[in-house]
Amino acid sequence: MPRRRKRDIIIRGFSKLLKEDKLKIVAELMDNQVETIELMKSFWHPDKHKQKIFDEFSENTISNFYIPYGVAPNVTINGKTYLVPMVIEESSVVAAASSAAKWWLDHGGFHAEVTGVTKIGQLHFNWKGDIKKLRKVWDELTRAFRTATAHITANMEARGGGITGFELLDMTDKIDNYYQIRVSFNTKDSMGANFINSCLEEFGHTLKTFISIHPDFQEDEHEVSIIMAILSNYTPGCLVRSWVECDIEELNDLDDQLTGEAFAEKFKTAVEIAEVDTYRATTHNKGIFNGIDAVAIATGNDFRAIEAAGHTYASKEGVYKSLSHVETDNGRFKFYLELPLALGTVGGLTSLHPLAKQSLELLGKPTADELMMIAATMGLANNFSAVRSLVTKGIQRGHMKMHLMNILNHFQATEEEKQLAVEYFKDKVVSFASVSEFIKEIRLS
Ligand code: MEV
Repeated sequence: MPRRRKRDIIIRGFSKLLKEDKLKIVAELMDNQVETIELMKSFWHPDKHKQKIFDEFSENTISNFYIPYGVAPNVTINGKTYLVPMVIEESSVVAAASSAAKWWLDHGGFHAEVTGVTKIGQLHFNWKGDIKKLRKVWDELTRAFRTATAHITANMEARGGGITGFELLDMTDKIDNYYQIRVSFNTKDSMGANFINSCLEEFGHTLKTFISIHPDFQEDEHEVSIIMAILSNYTPGCLVRSWVECDIEELNDLDDQLTGEAFAEKFKTAVEIAEVDTYRATTHNKGIFNGIDAVAIATGNDFRAIEAAGHTYASKEGVYKSLSHVETDNGRFKFYLELPLALGTVGGLTSLHPLAKQSLELLGKPTADELMMIAATMGLANNFSAVRSLVTKGIQRGHMKMHLMNILNHFQATEEEKQLAVEYFKDKVVSFASVSEFIKEIRLS
């Protein structure tokens, strides 16, 4: 019988073990068990109460995974200036956002508006009944939905939100007997996932009972099979727009090789390429999400949900395209970004994670709308800096400068060696090989 490799083990009841015991099991799989335990424990928070908060966010937690928390200053949106918290591991993102913010500060700042706040939930079901009959009693059914969820919606309604609409979709041309009830919600300052899902599950029970007892339906129509009840992360009705604009002449000082007009032209072409080429669009939009995700994480929002919605929106015309666009008319340069952003400033992790709470305080306790504008603006800022670099001096110069510290840390450089390296690489191209060579030489001398 082949011997089992060390890591091929089945562990039953792992979740029920104490954290220390889970860590021991993990360490036993490693060659350096003592060091593994020490390393994992060195990232535990010294304050037991704080650590407990983190342990309870998830399951089977054995340590914390640190990601840098930075801030981008001078972000002026609609005349209000923010110091924006950004949590991201990629070295150049905060620098790129800050550089764009600084430049636009002197050229009118960023502008932003929220054009919709609607979120969507879906109740998917199979039914062999007559849809015309269901449409006939539709108002009665939606009233029953509202009554059944009144205990869930009361608080949200008091805050000005709630259920804003119901739609019955016949999708039997796609899947036999498949219908969908699409529900619109306004969840005010919360992201609203739990609220929406709780309502939807209640609608499921209500629908089943309603159809089984309503006199308009015959015996053979009484059976409804609820397939699932879940919010949609696609939120094209929860939309934000962020933009910058200035005279093309003002772009003269952006690059020493290009006039403002040449820069605008090249920048516009670069964005147009992302509108016609999916490979480029993906990278272009990734640069946008560098900024958006960093704000989402810093404020305790679900960046996977935001990414999913953004990428779907980028494909809304059937082809995946750039989320940002450029217009150059009458001597003006306008660069804008529009995307769905379902963010929350209350509920979820926003108040449970001590640093998310702090981030929101740093932003002046924004409403969800305001946070949507801030996050979209950071997406636009990062996109502007990335495309600006790409069409002028190239991305690697700045990127690798920021990456220099990571490479130096890879070689376990001392503080003195780091200082020498920063000075040396001021006007030279940074690469793994060139830094390796540099370190070798100074260590030999
Ligand atoms: C890197 O994280 C993001 C960029 O690739 C974005 C872009 O190419 O536009 C620089």
